[in-house]
Amino acid sequence: MLLRVLGTAAGGGLPQWNCACPGCAGARAHPRRRRRHASLALRTEAGRWYLVNATPDLGDQIEDCPELHPGPGPRHTPVAGVLLTDAELDHTLGLARLREARSVEVLATAPVLTALLDRLNLGEVLGPYTGIEWGELTTLPRPLGELTVSAVPVSAKRPRYAAGTGTDEPMWSVALRLHDPAARKTLLYAPALAVWSEEFQEACEGADCVLVDGTFWDDDEPLRAGFSTRTATGMGHLPIAGPGGTAHRLSALRARCLYTHLNNTNPLGDPGAAEHEQLAAWGLETATDRMVIEL
Ligand code: MLT
Ligand code: MN
Ligand code: ZN
Repeated sequence: MLLRVLGTAAGGGLPQWNCACPGCAGARAHPRRRRRHASLALRTEAGRWYLVNATPDLGDQIEDCPELHPGPGPRHTPVAGVLLTDAELDHTLGLARLREARSVEVLATAPVLTALLDRLNLGEVLGPYTGIEWGELTTLPRPLGELTVSAVPVSAKRPRYAAGTGTDEPMWSVALRLHDPAARKTLLYAPALAVWSEEFQEACEGADCVLVDGTFWDDDEPLRAGFSTRTATGMGHLPIAGPGGTAHRLSALRARCLYTHLNNTNPLGDPGAAEHEQLAAWGLETATDRMVIEL
């Protein structure tokens, strides 16, 4: 299984266009600290790739990744579709940028499809431009080229634009289990982890590599930064460190574990931050943009 990390930042990116916080100012001053919105490219068979989430940076992310460049025909693209973990805007706004495609497959869970079609109206809006084949992701493995993909229920956290819609099923926000039967390797992608569910724990135990929500270092970070009156957990993102954090659970796994979806307030955005040593001591990593993961 071959993946390319296309971005590792939470909604807003690093830097965020309207933010002068130390993290964003640092990323403006040091271009190597910049992070695009969290996303992956997954090769499903030779010359055929799926994007995992479609971010507002999608066009630049494709340009940055040679494997995703078009050719040899003038409008021939290796990008066959998109897999979605949720319906959040930082993971779906890029769908509109795929409107030049002849056709594109978009796979997501039932509540996410309903949000995209009924709330964002993407079926009607994009229909005149391109043929989108909407398909459902469930907890059962769905063949995707040489691989399979399935959804691991995480939480009922909905995007703000879909507040009050649907039911409280934990399929609004899922982890994706990407499995390569020939190589017998599994990667788990969970950029939004509101709760550590039993299903998620089991999926982690069966994975060789886990890319997980690293939005906030600790629970009080959003309060300290002064941009929210909610804690990290209150915002639907389990923090990395602390008693309710994900680090101690991840460090107990055999899998290689990397944090992604870093908010611009997260000290891990600064390569000189002491938190990197703490993370290394736990045996955990921070994912970086353009990183290649081969399993
Ligand atoms: C989140 O990860 O909580 C959402 O993407 C927040 C947002 O950008 O609206
Ligand atoms: Mn997000
Ligand atoms: Zn900022």
